[in-house]
Amino acid sequence: MNLTEKDKQYLWHPYTQHKTAAPPIAITKGEGALLWDEHNKEYIDAIASWWVNPFGHSNRFIADAIYRQLTTLEHVLFGGFTHEPAVLLAEKLLAMLPNNQQKIFFSDNGSTAVEIAIKVALQFHYNNSVNKTTIIAFENAFHGDTFAAMAASGISLYTQAFQNMLIDVIRIPVPVKGQEEISFQALRAAIGNYNVAGFIFEPLVQGAAGMVMYAPAALDELLQICRNHNILTIADEVMTGFGKTGKTFACDYLQLQPDMICLSKALTGGTIPMAITTFTQELFDAFYSDDINKALFHGHTFTANPTGCAAALASLEVLATNAMQDNILRVNRRHRDFEQRIQNHPKVSTTRVLGVIFALEIKTESAVSYYGNLRNKLYDFFIENGVILRPIGNIVYILPPYIITDAQLEKVYDVVEKALEIV
Ligand SMILES: Cc1ncc(COP(=O)(O)O)c(C=O)c1O
Repeated sequence: MNLTEKDKQYLWHPYTQHKTAAPPIAITKGEGALLWDEHNKEYIDAIASWWVNPFGHSNRFIADAIYRQLTTLEHVLFGGFTHEPAVLLAEKLLAMLPNNQQKIFFSDNGSTAVEIAIKVALQFHYNNSVNKTTIIAFENAFHGDTFAAMAASGISLYTQAFQNMLIDVIRIPVPVKGQEEISFQALRAAIGNYNVAGFIFEPLVQGAAGMVMYAPAALDELLQICRNHNILTIADEVMTGFGKTGKTFACDYLQLQPDMICLSKALTGGTIPMAITTFTQELFDAFYSDDINKALFHGHTFTANPTGCAAALASLEVLATNAMQDNILRVNRRHRDFEQRIQNHPKVSTTRVLGVIFALEIKTESAVSYYGNLRNKLYDFFIENGVILRPIGNIVYILPPYIITDAQLEKVYDVVEKALEIV
């Protein structure tokens, strides 16, 4: 049996209907923005492997840091123990984050980063003997697949089987251009009608919804409303963090700052699964007590894994280099040029760019579904042409590793342009 046949026998893949899905492609090697399959076919990874890999596959600098850590201290439990990579990473990250962020809590993936933030929002009020249990989230949000993260997510495909088993979430419209006032009103109404504990949002870009973008001023207004009513705010920067929007964090575009920030994906440069939730001192203090019941009883076996911390420290070093910052600017310039070239195409209804993120919507006569025929046709065309892009319904987005070359980017744009001819 070859790899794909053995995969079929043993494995269950994410977000996959195995009866109808094509067999997975077996990847054997990665370097820079490129991946190769078992038949040596080359692919450009134009979505940075689900947005985790800004600095390229098999990055030597990060790999060396991981190797050094693996051969010094690969892992130690974080309950009752600590270690240098965790302390250094916390110190370094807090210096980069908005200055109201004072405490770091480690976990393993974006969903757990969100899960912890929501639990802290709920327990903060519980510890203060205040009855606030409802969370506010945006329509079409995506915050992950664990239960609280799922409750906050608004894409029904992911959550419909569990609808009656989730914590209370009120959904408000995203303040996209022209809809800002509707969103503000909905937030005020929700706060008036429910005992709201917190508001969670993907700052400036809703990734899984199809790179839906909205302005910092609108988010500032929503944060101000929350602040006026003592509602805790959670910025889910799992996708947007570490340069994707052109600034280190999407929150860097804001005037006001959230109470909590969730990080994962690019945190370790796409090498080792790791996540972080960050908190204000006030939140930490609400759990600081002589009463053990007020502690945060949440943890994972691999919390603050030293190897993951070493990978994250090396990634932050790479991100800070002038070369990498120039790459972010270069990709943004190239995206904007492509936007100029494509925005008047008869099959394109809208385009948008922020940082290294580009998205276009294809005109359709009727609503299309998330994993529908149009999406499948486009996906197959991209794969045939050696470009990994995963359209969302009628939305094609590009979110490449920052180190992608101009020639590779040009190939991605060309394939997207050609795809418009087949739809
Ligand atoms: C904004 C956001 N939050 C949370 C998650 C969940 O992260 P993970 O898949 O690592 O659990 C994702 C994943 O795409 C995401 O985009």
